[in-house]
Amino acid sequence: MTTLPQTVLQRIALRKALGQDGYHDALLKIASGDTDTLAEWDRPLTADERTARKQLIFDLWLAGGTTHDIARQLVIRQNAVFESVQITRDSALNQLVTEDPPVYNVWNFNQCDPRFGQPHPGQIQGQVLVNLLLWLTEPYDMVVDPMAGGGTTIDVCKYLRRRYRCFDIDPRRPDIQQWDVSKGYPRLYRKPSLIFLDPPYWRLKRDEYSKNGAAMGSYKEWLKFMGELAESSAAAVKPGGHIALMSESFLDEKETGRFLFINRDCTVLFEKAGLKGVQEISVNFTSGIKSFRDVQYAKQKGILLDLKRDLLVFKRSK
Ligand SMILES: C[S@@+](CC[C@H](N)C(=O)[O-])C[C@H]1O[C@@H](n2cnc3c(N)ncnc32)[C@H](O)[C@@H]1O
Repeated sequence: MTTLPQTVLQRIALRKALGQDGYHDALLKIASGDTDTLAEWDRPLTADERTARKQLIFDLWLAGGTTHDIARQLVIRQNAVFESVQITRDSALNQLVTEDPPVYNVWNFNQCDPRFGQPHPGQIQGQVLVNLLLWLTEPYDMVVDPMAGGGTTIDVCKYLRRRYRCFDIDPRRPDIQQWDVSKGYPRLYRKPSLIFLDPPYWRLKRDEYSKNGAAMGSYKEWLKFMGELAESSAAAVKPGGHIALMSESFLDEKETGRFLFINRDCTVLFEKAGLKGVQEISVNFTSGIKSFRDVQYAKQKGILLDLKRDLLVFKRSK
């Protein structure tokens, strides 16, 4: 492979990164001495290929790739990656849709915006991320989501031109890296301006998540996980940066028999990790998400159904 001309290596790397095939056959032919194939693959990159590579470099950089890694992957100079990003990042901002950041701390969204995230048992409305990112970050700031589920954060980051690194213990799409955040964060290279945390709300939807994840075990064990997550997130976020945590308090009839103030218990843990609480946002569902049976059950038992989640926002001191 190393004896091949540079252009051939670059063309193969580009095809590979774009998920296009054809390069295996070409390599076999070149290896067997086919000089026509070699000449064809050694011709300068076409205008279309150069455009595709420019877009790919930008996409990889937005996905948190370092110039060093992108250069290695595409067999080009690091400087070329750097220059390409500089040019594309400005023009990409010109196409950005301008939206206003939120003004109030009650956010009501009926449904998930289909542009953000793929169906997932824990999928949140992408509009939550849109509001959060508009409020707390600038274009090309780094956003990290260690429990990314259906990738809502990724799609919103692409939409608003924020850089991102997204992980999950059970990744369900290729742009989410497999990682168990109970071990802390993987090497991030660049400290994020915002960490978005949307963990399983203890045992809710346990059966639909990975058997190794944070939804398993007792409430006490979940709080231990959350305490460690608070510590590792406080260390990972940029000084002056924010950590936003989605939580849903609920009446746990099944295991503890108590109303679990998840928001209050987590606030204690995150403040203990040295973070300052700066906002509590109510993110509400409409009653349409509850079934007729849910409503009948609540009436019979004299209990209230949950339509509210809290988005708790913390800040690391500078
Ligand atoms: C509420 S869902 C996140 C949904 C996501 N915000 C979305 O909009 O699609 C919680 C996610 O946490 C993940 N998870 C649970 N324990 C984890 C762990 N220890 N490390 C990483 N991810 C974990 C689950 O696999 C699940 O995808």
